[in-house]
Amino acid sequence: ASDRSNPPGAAPILVASNRGPVSFSSEDDGSLTLRRGGGGLVSGLSAIDDPSAVWVCAALGEADRQAVRQAPDGRLDLAGFDVGGQAVRMLDIEPGTFTRAYNGVANSTLWFVHHLLYDIPVTPVFDDRFRREWESYTAYNTAFAEALAAEAAPGAAVLVQDYHLSLVPALLRGLRPDLRIGHFSHTPWAPPEYYRMLPDDVAEAVLTGILGADRAGFLTRRWALAFADCCAALLGATVDRDGLTVTHAGRTTRLGVHGLGADADFLRERSHRPDVDARLAALREAVGDRRTVVRVDRTELSKNIVRGLLAYRHLLRSRPEWQGRVVHIAFAYPSRHDLPEYREYTAAVQRIAHEINDEFGTPEWQPLILHVNDDFPRSLAAYRLADVALVNPIRDGMNLVAKEIPVVSDNGCALVLSREAGAFEELAEDAITVNPYDVIATAEALHRALTMPPAERTDRTKRLAAAATALPPQQWFLDQLNALRG
Ligand code: G6P
Repeated sequence: ASDRSNPPGAAPILVASNRGPVSFSSEDDGSLTLRRGGGGLVSGLSAIDDPSAVWVCAALGEADRQAVRQAPDGRLDLAGFDVGGQAVRMLDIEPGTFTRAYNGVANSTLWFVHHLLYDIPVTPVFDDRFRREWESYTAYNTAFAEALAAEAAPGAAVLVQDYHLSLVPALLRGLRPDLRIGHFSHTPWAPPEYYRMLPDDVAEAVLTGILGADRAGFLTRRWALAFADCCAALLGATVDRDGLTVTHAGRTTRLGVHGLGADADFLRERSHRPDVDARLAALREAVGDRRTVVRVDRTELSKNIVRGLLAYRHLLRSRPEWQGRVVHIAFAYPSRHDLPEYREYTAAVQRIAHEINDEFGTPEWQPLILHVNDDFPRSLAAYRLADVALVNPIRDGMNLVAKEIPVVSDNGCALVLSREAGAFEELAEDAITVNPYDVIATAEALHRALTMPPAERTDRTKRLAAAATALPPQQWFLDQLNALRG
């Protein structure tokens, strides 16, 4: 088991994130099955084949908690699973505390702030319930800081991920001033006038929490500068916008920009396995010789799925020549269903999808195929098939779908891309860019994309794929680690 090669206090490299590289589910017979997570962080860490690295994460459900209870020191035995060789320590945080921290503060407050999602006349409401949630968020962050302090070797490099753990850098520095601490935000950052909606002490704690790091990383320069602006406006910090540093209370934190790219090797191999081929055949059968507009998202408020569907409806109404000649394939897989806003959003997506099929559908033609269950091989099949990809978030840290589709596409794919996605900074030149709030402009962009000449489409897709893979996850991870140590 991995716990012998890395006793507590010996890890030279540590990663901390809410969702870890593995998760468990329990089978009918009571046994536990382990699943490896996807995403850039998991593939990024595979670059570190260091068996003494430790990944600290939270147990997310009952099956995870059960696995932790069976594991020595909370360290999971991952022998035989390809998760990069490092040990995983899952924290069994009291379920109520976890839920208040994760749902109440991380997903309902910080996520909403950074993605500008509040419905301002009624939300947010910072009342005594929020105060309990904030207390739990502090306890949850403290549990991470303590576990990291116990696992880290002297002078170790610690990479703390995302808005769930914004207090960890400062808390950890208090416990272990010898460590090199990095924080990385996978979300956008709100501008000061929006961010200051948070209660003053909370807004300041989040900023000073991250400023406890030696380096604070962001996906784009735009988000890094928004963070710096918040530090200046709310803390009176000194900001160097060109040199990307923030100085506050006698310490300087360097800001880094690391635009996570798609994992080309993994995607190209994975998207040609038989399970993907089978789903591609089924999609082709359903679509016939019609054009396809594809979108793949978590059912996430910031992904702007409803306006995307309204734009497609506007396209069919305003340019009836497309009726019968195009199919919109929309995969909106479940996410954060503990939050009522997400359940309502899912219902709204389904309602509009029905309306579109009712209004335009014929016995021969179903204008919209909506799937609300997750199926990764089916998503890859849709990536391969797509003539047009619609990526229209209201706001997005990066958006990897925009980067993955050009890499996987079989015949070239025209990309309709929101100017509010982080990926816009790298992909704008060869995408058709849109204001995500403007459904008429989005419908026109879809029309332009559908009528793009094939040669132009192929050329653009090649250039998009090159830009999208400029910083693969392994290099993205190593860059941060080297910058932190350098
Ligand atoms: C975003 C966040 C991640 C998060 C993911 C899925 O990409 O930046 O930290 O893990 O969404 O959300 P979930 O709440 O399911 O972990």
